[in-house]
Amino acid sequence: MNNPHRIVLASDNCAGVHPRVMQAIAEANHGQVSSYGYDPYTQVAIQEFKKILGENIEVLFVSNGTGANVTALSSMIQPFEAVVAAQTSHLHEDECGAPERITGCKFISVPSQNGKITVDQIQRTLVRVGDEHRSQVRVVSITQSTEYGTVYTLEEIREIADFCHKNQLFLHVDGARIANAAAALGVGFREMLRDTGADAVSFGATKNGLMMGEAIIFFGKNRFPNAKYFRKQNMQLASKMRFLSAQFIPYLAENIWLQNAEHANRMAKLFYQKAKHLPITFTQKVEVNVVFAILPPEIIEPLQEKFYFYVWNEYTNEVRLMFSFQTTEKEVEKLVLELEKLLK
Ligand SMILES: Cc1ncc(COP(=O)(O)O)c(C=O)c1O
Repeated sequence: MNNPHRIVLASDNCAGVHPRVMQAIAEANHGQVSSYGYDPYTQVAIQEFKKILGENIEVLFVSNGTGANVTALSSMIQPFEAVVAAQTSHLHEDECGAPERITGCKFISVPSQNGKITVDQIQRTLVRVGDEHRSQVRVVSITQSTEYGTVYTLEEIREIADFCHKNQLFLHVDGARIANAAAALGVGFREMLRDTGADAVSFGATKNGLMMGEAIIFFGKNRFPNAKYFRKQNMQLASKMRFLSAQFIPYLAENIWLQNAEHANRMAKLFYQKAKHLPITFTQKVEVNVVFAILPPEIIEPLQEKFYFYVWNEYTNEVRLMFSFQTTEKEVEKLVLELEKLLK
């Protein structure tokens, strides 16, 4: 990112911290409290999760999304078992093998065009059940919203969860952008996650206004009693936990998650509305805060001089334009104007 004046559409991770969240961190910076999560801020943050998701949950704060995924999965699985996830998933593509290395498990990828997987695909991985020569599938992991900006409907999640439970599998949701999905569906987290039957969620918030920090939620108490030990072994147990957990207090209690996610989603939709007449190919449905499009190769570099974004597929010239809670309408308009100019 050499030119500091470029408009950033590379990732929602490039956005800053919501002022209320920053304030919550500053407010937590008073005096001395117990470490490792035995502090009042962490207890209040857990209560905020319980208000939203119900009493019967376990909440573990961790510092990043890969750590949340790896710790959640470690807690649900034995080393001779396997995790099924979309080939396009962050787990497979963007965690440098941490899930395989840390859990010691096999990860089975199923093909996906839009980031989602189906019950049929999961079914086809369930072969040689009980055969000690084959890793036994124990967890299905889906991403909500997906890496391609698509969103599982509640019915789709429920169908996968029901299938998992009928087959003694657990359903894990990588929710790095869970707020964007909830905002897009117009539902709460309880309806989307607990009521559909998910067993565990990596509840992301860093991309949507936190400085850093995610939460692992397990539905049901003591279902995965080893999770706290895995969090420590996976180096995700922050000693000054209050600064992670305090961020979630206003984030949840003051609906910052919703305001931010709705705004980011709206910016992506606004761009799509204004740009859909242009001679570019949109490759995915625009459901949350990201747009995938194939651009004529000759305009990519000139566009990148003013806008910072990733080329997602170098072979097809597909780019990813990601909008955040800090993207402005003006920035979206500038992008459309620049595209119009370059495409003339
Ligand atoms: C789908 C998904 N899962 C998890 C993560 C978390 O990754 P990190 O370890 O970089 O916080 C990301 C971040 O890009 C993501 O997009």
